[in-house]
Amino acid sequence: MATFTLPKNSRIRKDGKVHSATGGGRIKRFKVYRFDPDNGENPRYDTFEIDLDQCGPMVLHALIKIKDEIDPTLTFRRSCREGICGSCAMNMNGSNGLACTTAIEDLAGEIRITPLPHMDVIKDLVPDFTHFYAQYSSIRPWLQTVSPTPSGKERLQSPDQRAKLDGLYECILCACCSTACPSYWWNSDKFLGPAILLQAYRWLADSRDEMAGERLDELEDPFRLYRCHTIMNCANVCPKGLSPAKAIAETKKLMAERAI
Ligand code: SF4
Ligand code: SF4
Ligand code: FES
Repeated sequence: MATFTLPKNSRIRKDGKVHSATGGGRIKRFKVYRFDPDNGENPRYDTFEIDLDQCGPMVLHALIKIKDEIDPTLTFRRSCREGICGSCAMNMNGSNGLACTTAIEDLAGEIRITPLPHMDVIKDLVPDFTHFYAQYSSIRPWLQTVSPTPSGKERLQSPDQRAKLDGLYECILCACCSTACPSYWWNSDKFLGPAILLQAYRWLADSRDEMAGERLDELEDPFRLYRCHTIMNCANVCPKGLSPAKAIAETKKLMAERAI
């Protein structure tokens, strides 16, 4: 029988800690998802009040301030602080995004921060990317050729051929799109999801790659590619302004063209 409630060990406890601000200033409340696999307890939300006059402008600044000054056990990923590495992807007030490029002032009211949805959680705001990276590896995301390399030369592209990679190469594999995709939520075991499909198309669109037929063979499956139902959440959330849905549509077009 279908179950529509969370399993018992996922239910949020009601006794999250509240860390109130001590001084005045412009106070903003951050409600942050906490989960520690080592204590055997269910997740909870802790509330942190931050004086925005003493904090940088981005959500990542607030998380770093919380970790540095209030609770050093708070766990999250970050590296570049420039929207380049993709590691600070999380859900803020219901939308996936990068904490380092999301301005606190753009989020109204109390800011609720959770890990990316529908992924296993390792600790606090850190999701488990093992399956996502295995799917990425499965598309063989590197240049594959059969012809010999031109002697003493790189494999060249014309400006027009190179331009076909625009809108694709910028993907930072943050998974904001895949974890916002309802088809991926329900079928992530078989559907590759928007991020990996955009990456797959990046190699199909590369004039130097000589394995397009084999790459399309791998995608020709009722689930891997065709579970995309053009819901468009992926394009709406991508922090780099990319459109995985368009890349998926182009891939379906290549499939149709080779079937004629
Ligand atoms: S367009 Fe496709 S991949 Fe993108 S969110 Fe919708 S179903 Fe998912
Ligand atoms: S397409 Fe955008 S949202 Fe998806 S993984 Fe790449 S950068 Fe992130
Ligand atoms: S810290 Fe690298 S994208 Fe946010």
